[in-house]
Amino acid sequence: MPDTHAPHPAAAVSESRLWDRLMEMARIGAIPGAREGEWGVNRPCLSPEDRQARRLLIGWAEAIGLAVSIDRLGNLFLRHEGSDPTLAPVLTGSHMDSQPKGGRFDGIYGVIAALEAVQALREAGLSTRRPIEIVAWTNEEGGRFAPGCMGSMAYSGFAPPDTWDDIRDSAGIRWADALAQHLAEEADLPRRPLGVVEGVAPFAYLEAHIEQGPVLERQGIEIGAVTGIQGSRWFSVEILGRSDHAGTCPLSLRQDALQDAIRAITALNALMQDPTDVLRFTVGRMEVFPNASNSVADLVRFSIDFRHPDDRVLQARGNAIEGVIQAALKSCDYRLEERFHARPATFDAGIIATIEGAATALGLSHMRLPSGAFHDAQFLVPICPTGMIFIPCRGGISHNPAEYAEPAHCANGARVLAQALAELAAR
Ligand code: GLV
Ligand code: MN
Ligand code: MN
Repeated sequence: MPDTHAPHPAAAVSESRLWDRLMEMARIGAIPGAREGEWGVNRPCLSPEDRQARRLLIGWAEAIGLAVSIDRLGNLFLRHEGSDPTLAPVLTGSHMDSQPKGGRFDGIYGVIAALEAVQALREAGLSTRRPIEIVAWTNEEGGRFAPGCMGSMAYSGFAPPDTWDDIRDSAGIRWADALAQHLAEEADLPRRPLGVVEGVAPFAYLEAHIEQGPVLERQGIEIGAVTGIQGSRWFSVEILGRSDHAGTCPLSLRQDALQDAIRAITALNALMQDPTDVLRFTVGRMEVFPNASNSVADLVRFSIDFRHPDDRVLQARGNAIEGVIQAALKSCDYRLEERFHARPATFDAGIIATIEGAATALGLSHMRLPSGAFHDAQFLVPICPTGMIFIPCRGGISHNPAEYAEPAHCANGARVLAQALAELAAR
């Protein structure tokens, strides 16, 4: 049950304000959608669009009196002060970057819902004992700079903050240079220590997100209390061949990097077979050099995204990848680098119960479910009690401009978040 001796912040959540902000934000980096009146978003991490989006958010936050700060990974924080500012804050948020062909909700919903929840709480006249901090994590998607979740990995101490310095985007820009430029452009914002590495652990972390899958919609359920996140491993593969003349070089003499890449991916598909259809295996990115019709390819780069909820499968098949590639190549050499290795994460039982209690108190149907997508939340699990709130999205479609969540569902998620934040921040 909600805290009955305090005003109810959920009642002050405004569906129209939340929706209008989501749509205003989605104009930054807008790309065409499939349906009339709908559109998607391309907002790469640390791009001018990302900065514009952050400024819009900062404007909204400052207008209601939240204190803004950033850390050295560019993670952006908006703080609602508690009556005891010395206490560890309750942290809530998500990310603002998108996939190259992304939707209007993935990530940004959790940030704007957090702002709505905190604004509602303030408008309800509720003063919380603990501070509440809204966070927009840097580079969750990993679409421009792989891997994703750099901001939260550095914040939680999962990886040193300089781990990704030499990672380059497709234009050859180094992560460290893009980040330095970004921090220079945000030099007017107060700096804060980097997470648990340089500061203190939060009291708890809550992230609201669209489900990105079909379960809630199919079952007609309004709120998902997320139980955990499956494990993910990302690899970057280079197949190294030799460029030759397409008209003159006999097939028997070639070191054709594209043909060997096809052999490697075919062999990986066999390795990743799963009759239960639980395993996820994706080669979503490929670059071919010199990429000319009449030259044999001398270099192919491709990505591997492999996920499984069972850590034993994640380890066994993930560790087999290199041998399978090696055995499949006919004439080329290879380089393999593991870019990301997140083991399956289990969310805190107390946070799950808080989310369920808030949903019940608000008269919203709810169910428990795991997350197939990764989220910054999984890197918070080792440092504080963590959980996630899912809302339904149309057809379960995500990482696609057709991604859509109903305004009423968006507001329900913000109400549950407001209620749960108020409860946690009162402890
Ligand atoms: C997050 O965007 C993921 O790929 O799961
Ligand atoms: Mn996301
Ligand atoms: Mn995503």
